[in-house]
Amino acid sequence: MNAPSALKTAAWRRALVTGASAGIGEAFARRLAAQGADLVLVARDEARLQALADDLKAAHRIQVQVLAADLLDSQGAATVAERLAAEPEIDLLVNNAGMGSKGAFTELPLAAELRQVELNVGALVHLTHAALGAMTRRHRGTVINVSSISGLQPVPTMATYGGTKAFVTSFSEALREEVRGSGVDICVVLPGYVKTEFLDRTGNPEGFGPVPDFAWLAPDRVAADALDDARRRRMYSVAGFGYRVVAGLMGIAPRHALRRYAGLAARHHK
Ligand SMILES: NC(=O)c1ccc[n+]([C@@H]2O[C@H](COP(=O)([O-])OP(=O)(O)OC[C@H]3O[C@@H](n4cnc5c(N)ncnc54)[C@H](OP(=O)(O)O)[C@@H]3O)[C@@H](O)[C@H]2O)c1
Repeated sequence: MNAPSALKTAAWRRALVTGASAGIGEAFARRLAAQGADLVLVARDEARLQALADDLKAAHRIQVQVLAADLLDSQGAATVAERLAAEPEIDLLVNNAGMGSKGAFTELPLAAELRQVELNVGALVHLTHAALGAMTRRHRGTVINVSSISGLQPVPTMATYGGTKAFVTSFSEALREEVRGSGVDICVVLPGYVKTEFLDRTGNPEGFGPVPDFAWLAPDRVAADALDDARRRRMYSVAGFGYRVVAGLMGIAPRHALRRYAGLAARHHK
């Protein structure tokens, strides 16, 4: 019998999506439900998750479990990790929950910067560890990690955020090689600006300056492209032609030029 990794496309029966109560995570949940996958929805806001679950169950013949958890809380993260390793099998993990901050690093509260590292990096590592352990034992499964195009370059005034996303991309690339041939895949998603609550949740949406209309992506576009790319077993998913060009340029530009450009752009927006 062929190893599962020999199959050209992946198909998922049950997905766990973090940060499913809003934005890109909700879009992942809606897309997956329409494709017939059962779901486990994770975020803090239980009422919002339950409303989404009811909506999806009414529209599609699927099972939806609501798992309200704060991934910044060790017990919350452990509960989600336990679910990933348990039965019935989760064959797709979407590590999407994340947060950012905007401003001069020395003026941002330290506690919030550390929480950002814990959510964007710590919780993602924790859940990936739980999922990959179970998936590699079963020789099937996919992990989609939502990073950011901003992880491809340093981001002055979002230094911590850019750093966490550089970690997510590098971590995902390394694991992709570690599990190569095991039947398990990792896909990393690199969105540009997406119309969600993300900018407002930084507490400083005006700090981003005016973002031109053409630069905004819809959350559904990001989720749809990511699922398509992951299903085709691609490593990277970058939604939008313009962002694919930018990602390509960032990949070939000298590191010092990227850093200076990022610094100039940040000063321009002050
Ligand atoms: N929007 C963009 O422009 C953009 C660009 C590039 C990358 N991204 C990345 O895309 C991902 C999703 O962002 P988004 O734009 O959809 O943001 P969003 O609309 O702010 O949604 C964030 C989600 O994460 C959940 N969350 C936040 N803190 C959590 C915690 N402690 N425990 C559990 N869940 C938590 C939130 O739910 P609760 O509040 O209910 O917990 C919400 O469902 C993030 O990783 C972000 O870095 C976004």
